[in-house]
Order: sequence, then structure tokens, then C-alpha cells
Amino acid sequence: MLAREPGSGRDEAIRGLSVGVGETTRNGDRVARRTERALAVHRLLNSQSPNRPVPLSDKGRIALPDIQPPRADLVAALAMRRSGYAYEDRDLEFRALSAWLRFAVGVQRFVPAYGRPEHPLGMAPTAGGLPSLGVYVLVRRAEEVPSGLYRYEAVSHELVELSTVDPTGALELVYAQPEFATRPAVSLALTARLDVAFGQYPLRHYRTLHVDSGVAVQNLYLVGTALGLSCCAVAEFDDAGLAALLGTPDTEIPTMLFAAGHAEQR
Ligand SMILES: Cc1cc2nc3c(=O)[nH]c(=O)nc-3n(C[C@H](O)[C@H](O)[C@H](O)COP(=O)(O)O)c2cc1C
Repeated sequence: MLAREPGSGRDEAIRGLSVGVGETTRNGDRVARRTERALAVHRLLNSQSPNRPVPLSDKGRIALPDIQPPRADLVAALAMRRSGYAYEDRDLEFRALSAWLRFAVGVQRFVPAYGRPEHPLGMAPTAGGLPSLGVYVLVRRAEEVPSGLYRYEAVSHELVELSTVDPTGALELVYAQPEFATRPAVSLALTARLDVAFGQYPLRHYRTLHVDSGVAVQNLYLVGTALGLSCCAVAEFDDAGLAALLGTPDTEIPTMLFAAGHAEQR
């Protein structure tokens, strides 16, 4: 784990995780100040004014099936991995979607931490083991999952439905390469939680959140490769447009898009 700031112990970190921006506790104020400063830089870098996305409320939940891990040699997966731009024109299989999420960005184990007996740690590690990443699935076509927008809940291994509007049209505007909206079966969006990171760490860890995302991206590539998926990490997207599509608050910034579908058989 990263070194904590002097005077900020585990319990304080938990308060940092649980207090909302703008609350009057000392830690809440500090988190809010750090978040505002990071957002100022973030907006400057992205030529972006403050966005006010409309939050989307949870609707139904789709339980993902328990699944055996794909049988693949790690070095073979590393050697076979490519960014794929060709996808089979068919639904993403439910079991493939479940395995992809479970083994790339699901929970790996539980440990006592942050004042909790069972704190989840991910298959993709994050700095301090913090729940700093959000995972959203934008489904164009998949078995058992209607097209729409879902948040992946790693602990329960469920998809939380946020919208059943087909995301293709909105994604065409969000991707700089609009073919990523119309060809892959799904797009996965990673987000970074500034409020979570700054509850624990100082401002320079704005960078660490992007490293956390990069770790998850490589997991998505490798597990996707092992499952026979064609995958591509995509950094070229409209930040504000994606945040609006996901309905995320200002404190949760999109970091990556990732396109996937069954690879064309050669
Ligand atoms: C962080 C990251 C961002 C990327 N963004 C894009 C992108 O916006 N558009 C795109 O076509 N490919 C994107 N790629 C794919 C790279 O172009 C590709 O990984 C690189 O050319 C090497 O090819 P390979 O992945 O097949 O080994 C991205 C890859 C990474 C790792």
C-alpha cells in the first residue's frame, strides 16, 4: 500500500471514503478542496467546463453467472494479445461477458482493512486497495442483457441497470472513431473516483488513478484475449460527453473506453 499522509490513519481514511464533498467535517472539507483543485487541472487539460450530468438511478439488477476461469497460458495470452478492430456480428455471449468482468475487474479476495472485516480487493489492483475505479458496460448486443447502460458491481457480480436506451447513437458522438460505437458488441467505460482517492491520498495521486485504470485495461485485454474476444482500449473520446452518458457526478471522471466483441474467426 502507498504511504499514508502523516496523521491520516485507517479510520480517517474510511471517513474520507464515506463523507460527501461539501460536508462540514474537517476531512470532508479537505477531500472537497483536493477534488476541486484536481478538477480544475482536469478541466484545463480537457478544455472542459464543469459538467452537470443528470444522475441515473438504479433500476433492475442482472446477476451474472458463476463461471470457470478461461484456460489459457499467461505468456500465450500476452503474446496473442492485440488491439482488435474486427468483431463478429453477433451478441456477446452471457458467459463470456460474465467471465470477462469477473476475472478482469471482479473481486479477487477480501481482507480486513479500513475498519471493515471484509474489504474487497480486485483482480486489478488499485493504489491502497481503494475502490477508486468505476466500471460501466454499454451494451449494444449481448445475450440476456438488453441493450443499455449498466454499472458493474464487483462484490455481488451483478450488472445494475441504469438505462435501457441503446447507447449506439450516443457513443457515436462520444468516440472520436465512431466505428467503435457500431461494430463491437459492448463498450466498457472505466471511471476514477477523485473523492475516494483524495479521502486517503494527497493531490499528486490524481496520476495514480490513471495508473489504476491502466492496470485494469491490461487485465481487460488479457482476459478478453483468453476468452477469444477482440478488444481495443480507446483513449480518444469526449470526456464531458461520456460523463453525461454515464450520469456520473463531477467527482467521478471517465478515464478509458474499451471496446469488445467476439473475434472474427480466421
Ligand atoms: C491506453 C491506450 C489507449 C489507446 N487508445 C486508442 C484509441 O483511442 N484508438 C485506437 O484506435 N486505438 C487505441 N489504442 C490501441 C493502440 O493503438 C494499440 O495498443 C497499439 O497500436 C499497439 O497495438 P497492439 O495493442 O495490437 O499491440 C490504445 C491503447 C492503449 C494501451
